[in-house]
Amino acid sequence: MIRDRLKDLVTNVQLRASASELARRTWMKYAMRGVRQADAFDRLDMAYKVSDPWRMNTPRERFRFARTNRLVQEHLGERFASILEIGSGEGHQTEHLVELATPSGEVTGLEVSATAVDRAKERLADPRARFVAGDLFAQPWSSERGRFELVTACEVLYYMSDIPRTLRTMDELGGSCMLTYFAPASRICEAPAMAMPGAQKTSFAFDDTEWIAVWWRGASRRA
Ligand SMILES: C[S@@+](CC[C@H](N)C(=O)[O-])C[C@H]1O[C@@H](n2cnc3c(N)ncnc32)[C@H](O)[C@@H]1O
Repeated sequence: MIRDRLKDLVTNVQLRASASELARRTWMKYAMRGVRQADAFDRLDMAYKVSDPWRMNTPRERFRFARTNRLVQEHLGERFASILEIGSGEGHQTEHLVELATPSGEVTGLEVSATAVDRAKERLADPRARFVAGDLFAQPWSSERGRFELVTACEVLYYMSDIPRTLRTMDELGGSCMLTYFAPASRICEAPAMAMPGAQKTSFAFDDTEWIAVWWRGASRRA
């Protein structure tokens, strides 16, 4: 009897989970229309009508966050006093980037969706994390050479209309720069990324998902 009830309960939970996953997918199909390489900030904000629209709270993405941190530490440095994360979403990766900050350091998450920024602020209790809603080029500091010790842009380049301009701005702002993108997006990301001075790359995978990571020293550290 109890076993039957438990079985029903588990089936109900599974049904609800798959219904909500179906709703998320359907919503994202609609919200993401015309978003690629379009600076479609309104539609990106709309994506956040569902929580965790890109399923960042999954083993696959947690693997990517940990691997990205490791690559930063292996190639760019152990700890940073100031980190800029471009496209910080709801702060899932920020939670990991904070581990790269010095005890008195700061991670600034920059995100065009105000909804995502509100959720990120709720998610992260760490006083070293702060979030700004807006576009990179609209920031008053966007052309300050070496303003941040590390600048990251992970899974975000695809939504931008001018990738080379973003990379040049990162190069100016960051002592070190780190990008990650889905391997199939190499078609649009690889040429501009590898054109950055001294750029190096590697790839890593989780099951059948492969990402490319590209990093380089920013202008302030090459001067
Ligand atoms: C796929 S999510 C990636 C989130 C996080 N970087 C990660 O890797 O887990 C992409 C995020 O970038 C944001 N975004 C897109 N274009 C942006 C831009 N020009 N400036 C800042 N954020 C942007 C989107 O709103 C979205 O939250």
